[in-house]
Amino acid sequence: MADIERNWLTNPSRRSAIARVAGLMAASPVGAAMAQIDPRPLGEHHRFLSLAEVQNAFDFEPHFFGNVVQSVYDYTAHGDGSEFNLRRNRQAFDWVDILPGRAIPTSQVDLSSTLLGVNAKFPVWVAPTAQMVALHPDGEIGMYRAATAASTLMMLSINTGTPVGQVAPAVQGGTLWAQYYPQENLTTTQRSIDTLQGAGCKGIIVTIDQTASFYERTQQVRNLGGRVIRPVAAAGGPAPVLTGSARYRINGGRCWYTWQYIDAVRKMVPGPLIIKGILEPEDAVLAIQHGADSIIVSNHGGRSMDYGPSSLEALPAIVAAVNGRVPVLFDSGIRRGSDCFKALALGANAVLLGRAARWGLAAFGSTGAQRLIEMIQQELVQTAAAAGCAKLSDINKTKVKANFV
Ligand code: LAC
Repeated sequence: MADIERNWLTNPSRRSAIARVAGLMAASPVGAAMAQIDPRPLGEHHRFLSLAEVQNAFDFEPHFFGNVVQSVYDYTAHGDGSEFNLRRNRQAFDWVDILPGRAIPTSQVDLSSTLLGVNAKFPVWVAPTAQMVALHPDGEIGMYRAATAASTLMMLSINTGTPVGQVAPAVQGGTLWAQYYPQENLTTTQRSIDTLQGAGCKGIIVTIDQTASFYERTQQVRNLGGRVIRPVAAAGGPAPVLTGSARYRINGGRCWYTWQYIDAVRKMVPGPLIIKGILEPEDAVLAIQHGADSIIVSNHGGRSMDYGPSSLEALPAIVAAVNGRVPVLFDSGIRRGSDCFKALALGANAVLLGRAARWGLAAFGSTGAQRLIEMIQQELVQTAAAAGCAKLSDINKTKVKANFV
């Protein structure tokens, strides 16, 4: 090594020379520009994206994970059985191609519609999902506020963390419908429906699936040791103690369902009656015969019975069987505007956001849920424009090719 080089490497003034150069660089515009190359300095790599930075629905999910206790996270995140349906619901969207069309400006896209008496700017509604107060203190009222601000309607779950009588009047100018599970006793049914309708929920959604859902992960943990998961308690109430088949999430109280029950309910509901959880064309036809004003094609977000079809794969045959007699709503796995587009193109009249809306609420409260819904709406507009669809009826089966395997 030459003396001059050794001198440079060992000279104590080298460090101060480097510091001086670094100082000059930092003060110069070039240095400032270089410092911007990584907008997240190493020490900040664990920070979360702010609401201003989230770019799509998926960005909300880590916030949701970080904001709630494990049992609340698991309740939303898990699916039935080995969660094949949970994955398949998402994969099915990858199997549908959007066919290249003649793109139009987004300003020409108007996806508004009147469906079941509801005027909506976008065919993207909020699905009924349970216990929102556990997700965020804004709870169901926050979700209703978000849906209304995003010009859409919300379906309130019967397993609400906030009584319907408090949710419905909390937001002006919104549309709140209500979901419930069949109750074998017709007097009890009438009482429930009266409560929902009395609160102003015109549309009533009856969920007919989830008679025998089985949450393997939750059950393994609960029964075979390891981390203990407590069932999610109803707001303010004690956590339920599960016994018998309920420990296996097979709800014995749901194994009696009949279409005659729907006949009875039909008489109790003057407004829209919607049957949720249809996966077979025959059931869609029966639902219409028994008075449904609409059906929701859904496998309950992969929470109902594992190894069935994804909701998207089930959709085209059901749409064909319904043949335009009633609007077909769709849920399970919607995360992006392109997902909405594919479901609409395969015949849905509107789609519902379940888990995704929960991510938004859990992440940033009502504002987060609103932002998430609006992002998906805007993505849908962008996809429609790219595919050359100016209005809802342009989004039809000529615009996609399904490669279901
Ligand atoms: C669920 C029920 C409550 O999916 O709908 O957990």
